[in-house]
Amino acid sequence: MKFKFSSIRRVNYLHTLLFNFRTFPFHVARHLPVLIGYKVKISAPSRKCFSLSEDFDLHGAPIELGVRTNFSKGIPTQIRLIKKSSRLVLSNAVRVSKGSTILLHHGTLHMGKNSYCGERVLIVCHNRIDIGYNVAIAWNSQVYDSNFHFVYREKSSEIQNCTKPIKIGHNVWIGNTCTIAPGTVIPDYTTVAQNSLVNKNFASVPKGSLLAGIPAVLKKTEPFFCLLWNKNMERSLHRYFDENGQPEVFQLPENTPANPYDLES
Ligand SMILES: CC(C)(COP(=O)(O)OP(=O)(O)OC[C@H]1O[C@@H](n2cnc3c(N)ncnc32)[C@H](O)[C@@H]1OP(=O)(O)O)[C@@H](O)C(=O)NCCC(=O)NCCS
Repeated sequence: MKFKFSSIRRVNYLHTLLFNFRTFPFHVARHLPVLIGYKVKISAPSRKCFSLSEDFDLHGAPIELGVRTNFSKGIPTQIRLIKKSSRLVLSNAVRVSKGSTILLHHGTLHMGKNSYCGERVLIVCHNRIDIGYNVAIAWNSQVYDSNFHFVYREKSSEIQNCTKPIKIGHNVWIGNTCTIAPGTVIPDYTTVAQNSLVNKNFASVPKGSLLAGIPAVLKKTEPFFCLLWNKNMERSLHRYFDENGQPEVFQLPENTPANPYDLES
């Protein structure tokens, strides 16, 4: 049976070759560290604006920009870096799905290994956004570190900076249609429920927490409450539920050595 959420993967090899050889030195470019799909617009004032993370493995999984789609076929993907000072740093297996937009006016956006932007995700960076490894940002979510405009406060005679850095830890799952606002800190092993607005520093919440609501608050904490990263296991589970009349639960056999953070081997 076909995996029902399997995405369509289409690489535009001409764009891929041009981008890699224009951006990176020959010894790096020949490994094609970045794969680019169709209808992907990439612009930057200098090739120095793009870089691979320090731990990037040229023999490891490549970065995919606008390569995969489930439901946004034909919708352009945009990666726009405006100022020479903007930096986009990407690690192995970063995936930006079709229809997403990454806009860097200034500052640095760092996406860790195996971090993923679903379809029609918007990331706007004016200051600094750090996204850890194994982070999934589901479709229609937005992450922006600036309010874009200033607020006048007569009482204090102060004009505050309208940008504040954002930090998203490792093994974080952000559900669909969430907003991650300036100054947000989401610690490792946190889940954000769909449609939530996260706008605070949650650094002190324990591992395995669920943040939800507008504005988001801590809803629950359970040990190992997290996205199941192992895609093989996920496929088997979809098959199990489909073939058994959609039961409520699947009970893991006792002592299953299931590390939920295991990636597809
Ligand atoms: C994260 C998620 C899977 C959690 O589901 P869950 O474990 O069943 O969580 P629960 O239903 O037990 O929720 C726990 C509490 O949070 C509340 N909650 C859950 N989602 C919420 C939301 N979006 N907004 C506000 N509260 C929410 C529940 O009402 C419940 O509160 P209660 O204890 O007062 O009743 C689910 O909320 C979610 O976001 N699903 C969408 C996933 C998605 O976007 N997938 C896209 C592909 S990557």
